[in-house]
Amino acid sequence: MFRRTALAAGLTALLAGPAAAQTQITIQHPLPLNSHYGAGATALKEAFERAAGNRYRVVIQRNDNEREAIESVQIGTIECVITSTGPVGNFVPDTRNLDVPFLFRDSAHARGVLDGPIGQELLGRFNARGLAGVAWMENGFRHLTNSRREVNNPADIRGLKVRTMENQVHMRAFSTLGALPTPMAFSELVPALQQGTVDGQENPIPVIVANNLNQVQRFLTLTSHVYSPAVLICNPALLARMSAADRAAFQEAARAGVAANRARVTADEESGVEELRRRGMTVVTTVNTAAFQEALAPAFAEYERTLNAALLRRIRDWQ
Ligand code: PAF
Repeated sequence: MFRRTALAAGLTALLAGPAAAQTQITIQHPLPLNSHYGAGATALKEAFERAAGNRYRVVIQRNDNEREAIESVQIGTIECVITSTGPVGNFVPDTRNLDVPFLFRDSAHARGVLDGPIGQELLGRFNARGLAGVAWMENGFRHLTNSRREVNNPADIRGLKVRTMENQVHMRAFSTLGALPTPMAFSELVPALQQGTVDGQENPIPVIVANNLNQVQRFLTLTSHVYSPAVLICNPALLARMSAADRAAFQEAARAGVAANRARVTADEESGVEELRRRGMTVVTTVNTAAFQEALAPAFAEYERTLNAALLRRIRDWQ
């Protein structure tokens, strides 16, 4: 009897051994810790480590080359990434529909679409590409900065060399406006602006503030030309290895991350423009959105042909 019990206990200990080991989850994102992505990653880390006890440790790292980070998640050298959709269309082409300029009316529209059935459908498309789309986070509405001149209307953009993300939808928009779109990873942006390889760039206010882009850019125009979603992507094997309870806790923690990330975007957007003025930027706030939309007409016609016109309509019609 005693021997059997001891044997059973030994076996239990043996089985419990590896399960008790701590699993590390590395989450990379391209911005400083004190940013809207940092806020999202930190809230996720705290919520998941609290729920999963000592069994998981979440490590947050910066990698400002989003494409490289997604590739690392795909091959499994890191577990997760928070990235804008900038390069994501090169992995999951359907997400390109979200990158169409002036598609979303405001943050409530974007968040509603991404949190609803359309967002879920798109997250479901990541699996076929060896990735798990976990949750939609947020980068924010993108605005144009440059070192040459005030941009008041679409004609002012003509001839500007503008760094874009490695995103064909965005590049098409900027070439339609007569700019010279120059795609590059965010890691290359500041040297390119310093050396004059490009005149301008476009990013949401929280990114411009967190990265001190005012030090290399004088003019900011609040174009809000495109909403920039962000997404938490993980390696599918990580989620498959988790118990159902841990997976649910991870999803819950991701929701806490989304809430913290979006709250920080909202706060940064409220205070950021004033902060950038204080730091010396000239800010154009009155923008003729209709003129920009009109100038983009050829690009819109192309998106209807080359992207998913039915999905674009569903997104536009969302109330
Ligand atoms: O411009 C970009 O590449 C992205 O907006 C950034 C800054 C890496 C955040 O996702």
